[in-house]
Amino acid sequence: MPAADGAPPVRRARPRRLLMCRPTTFEVSYAINPWMDPSVPVDAARATAQWEQLYRLYLALGHSVELIEARPGLPDMVYAANGATVVDGKVLGARFRNAERAAEGEAYLDWFRERGFTEIHRPRHINEGEGDLLTCGDSILAGYGFRTAPEAHREAEEVFGRPVIGLELVDPRFYHLDTALAVLDGKEIMYHPEAFAPHSRALLRRLFPDAVLVERADAEAFGLNAMSDGYNVVLPQAARGVARQLAERGFHPIGVDLSELLKGGGSVKCCTLELRPADAAR
Ligand code: ARG
Repeated sequence: MPAADGAPPVRRARPRRLLMCRPTTFEVSYAINPWMDPSVPVDAARATAQWEQLYRLYLALGHSVELIEARPGLPDMVYAANGATVVDGKVLGARFRNAERAAEGEAYLDWFRERGFTEIHRPRHINEGEGDLLTCGDSILAGYGFRTAPEAHREAEEVFGRPVIGLELVDPRFYHLDTALAVLDGKEIMYHPEAFAPHSRALLRRLFPDAVLVERADAEAFGLNAMSDGYNVVLPQAARGVARQLAERGFHPIGVDLSELLKGGGSVKCCTLELRPADAAR
């Protein structure tokens, strides 16, 4: 929110604990979202180089980044955001909508078990992790319509003991909530209104009257698939308009090129799962 004198607020970066997955098995061999076209070749070396750049950027920004190894036959494992939801140190595993990704759920659960996480919940309903469950202040914003089932929203509420606010997605290009909305800091968000059903748009307007509204072209460039630490906002470099909007609000946008990973229908945020500790500031 801008300060009373019109100057942007002073922002503060908070180091995060992140989980990523090197794209060692990445390819586009099936199509489960409109961005994926198996007839378009993926440059594996380039995908890896682009991913490494994001990884190194996070380290340079002071975040700690842990790694999970991609399993053979799971080309979408690179999109770590979908692997689970971790809030207050509690883990809700993912359960994928599409058979092609089903085995990722167990792979990520294994990682959490091996790393000593003690409160791990095996999911009853379909949820695609932080792709659709975004922590915002004390609440969780939850997408539905394409992947995550509304029943999973109640499940998340039980597991995390936080209110879960359902938002209906209506444009298949923005099939996960993290392609249509990003949390910038506390209760500040940015989103692309047309990705949402009218009732959800009305809800977003009411809950977040000061939100950054992102234009279609920037949303199509995956400009909302961003990772904010409260000051630095890492996002696809092609989303120039949203970078300007963020700078006006006192954020520090950092553009990266993840064009190869875009061929799978994902970008910065999709490649990044935040492991939120029990004592995190909100
Ligand atoms: N190919 C993947 C899928 O369709 C991309 C997932 C992108 N991840 C995300 N958090 N939006 O499931």
